[in-house]
Amino acid sequence: MSKITIFDHPLIQHKLSILRDVNTGSKQFRELISEIAMLMCYEATRDLELEEVEINTPMCKTKAKKLAGRKLAFVPILRAGCGMLDAMLEMVPAAKVGHIGLYRDEETHQPVEYYNKLPSDINERDVFVLDPMLATGGSASDAISIIKKSNPRSIKFLCIIAAPEGIEVLSNAHPDVQIFCAAKDSHLNENCYIIPGLGDAGDRIFGTK
Ligand code: PRP
Ligand code: URA
Repeated sequence: MSKITIFDHPLIQHKLSILRDVNTGSKQFRELISEIAMLMCYEATRDLELEEVEINTPMCKTKAKKLAGRKLAFVPILRAGCGMLDAMLEMVPAAKVGHIGLYRDEETHQPVEYYNKLPSDINERDVFVLDPMLATGGSASDAISIIKKSNPRSIKFLCIIAAPEGIEVLSNAHPDVQIFCAAKDSHLNENCYIIPGLGDAGDRIFGTK
């Protein structure tokens, strides 16, 4: 079973409530996705190693800490994962970025792959897969299977809302992948949408419906 971390931080929970609201428009929706991703990034990178370096402040020489050269890669699942990317890059500008394009077939709800471009040195990197929604878990599981073929050092999955069904599917498929989310919702409806959820994340980010 994957380790799962649910962020109960008041700032994240407050922003999530506005995000879910049907009256929140695309501009604010995008801003909130970004802000929540930035807060999640802060916590999901807590175990990055540090090394001691010597620096000069304007006052004196001192020992300080810097990231110990662990290389990261961020991989948004298209489209909605892109909404989380800029915030992650603001926190870790040196990370490389891969993209995996998947959409859910409307009838079968199974993911269909249409794009895949990963950093060539991903085997030296710790990967953070980004997608606001973990519903049936099919898209996340397939994206991670694709990434694993390139042998990354580790994979973490960051989403904003997870359904219990998706957590189970992803945990069974990839028990080594730690899952981070802001909320575990109640269930999926007959169309495999998360209840209460926030609707279609891609459509709300890009205003396509
Ligand atoms: C959404 C979402 C996930 C997927 C989750 O994308 O962003 O990728 O559904 O569902 P699952 O866990 O049941 O696979 P969608 O397929 O709607 O594509 P889009 O981002 O292009 O709108
Ligand atoms: N994808 C979404 O964008 N929302 C859901 O509730 C389920 C899948």
